[in-house]
Amino acid sequence: MHILHVVGARPNFMKAAPVLRALRETGAEQTLVHTGQHYDVNMSDAFFRELGMPEPDVNLAVGSGSHAEQTAEIMIRFEKVAKKYQPDLVLVYGDVNSTVAAALVCAKLLIRLGHVEAGLRSFDRNMPEEVNRVVTDQLSNILFTPSADANDNLRREGVTAEKICLVGNVMIDTLIRFLPIAQAMKNDLPRRYALVTLHRPANVDDPQMLQGILSALSAIHDDVPVIFPVHPRTRHAIREFGLHTEGIEIREPLSYLEFLALQCRATLVITDSGGIQEEATYLGIPCLTVRPNTERPVTVEVGTNTIVGNDVEKLKAETLNILSGRGKKGRLPPLWDGHASERIASLVASRDALPTGAVE
Ligand code: UD1
Repeated sequence: MHILHVVGARPNFMKAAPVLRALRETGAEQTLVHTGQHYDVNMSDAFFRELGMPEPDVNLAVGSGSHAEQTAEIMIRFEKVAKKYQPDLVLVYGDVNSTVAAALVCAKLLIRLGHVEAGLRSFDRNMPEEVNRVVTDQLSNILFTPSADANDNLRREGVTAEKICLVGNVMIDTLIRFLPIAQAMKNDLPRRYALVTLHRPANVDDPQMLQGILSALSAIHDDVPVIFPVHPRTRHAIREFGLHTEGIEIREPLSYLEFLALQCRATLVITDSGGIQEEATYLGIPCLTVRPNTERPVTVEVGTNTIVGNDVEKLKAETLNILSGRGKKGRLPPLWDGHASERIASLVASRDALPTGAVE
């Protein structure tokens, strides 16, 4: 059994790492392809190193570009690799452009495709990730879902039940593995602080929107220190639009462990990331999500997440609520137990006999 994994952007790495490890135990032959969508040391290499991932066998080095340029370039370069390796199964992760690009190539080459973190839906096609999720799921032969809502979404879209496997959350596998190391890391952090991440195009590509959020964060700083490791996209936007960040402690993007060390001690998290909503829920830390919706409803219904949309007044009010001890406590969603990737590995091993071929 030869399994080829495709990763490309920061949130892929912590999802693929435990699946690679679990499949190694089954004796499967594995090939790791990095598309190069993310290429900065602190957006990519640092994650490989800390997560103990093998060096990619192939790096497509596509770099940045418009959606069409990036997706098309990955497709052109990945097609050659897929033809050369002829794997029994390609595994793609999450919802980034690398995910959908590889999925399209596999569908046309009739290579069996598995999607890890299938079925999540924000029902908001303004988000590029939602388009990537819907297309990837339609093209996949095996869909590994993190939560029951994802199964419901897929069934509603006509995906047959036998292709859907509810396995739990692979990113939480990584969190559980590395949390003790992050907790033991030395720090000189304030007693209380808000940890912020922002990188969604809807929040950072529009100067008025971004300045509105930054001004709210500056105001929040009157009550609690604000630490903000800034994604390159957001840094470019702040510089290009000449925006104000008074009082906000701006940092470079952090490695996985550095970020987890900050997150596990935070008083609250303010974010527009999908993965961080989940990590905050696992850690029991109140999370304010600066988006109109989430594709991870379990973090709101069961976990510590509150959607504040683009309402900066609500962001400030909810922050004060949390600081006065009235933040959401939350519980652990089902199957966030550190064993999701083992379940994937045993399913993949037992499905060895499945035919390669088009999605019916
Ligand atoms: C991508 C994903 C998003 C994910 C995010 C995590 C898509 C559609 N979006 O968004 O779902 O949440 O990754 O970070 O796939 N840049 C650098 N160095 C890098 C990478 C990017 O400077 O290593 C800059 C470039 O200017 C680039 C911009 O960031 O144009 C955006 O990068 P891109 O990969 O297109 O999308 P992200 O915003 O990172």
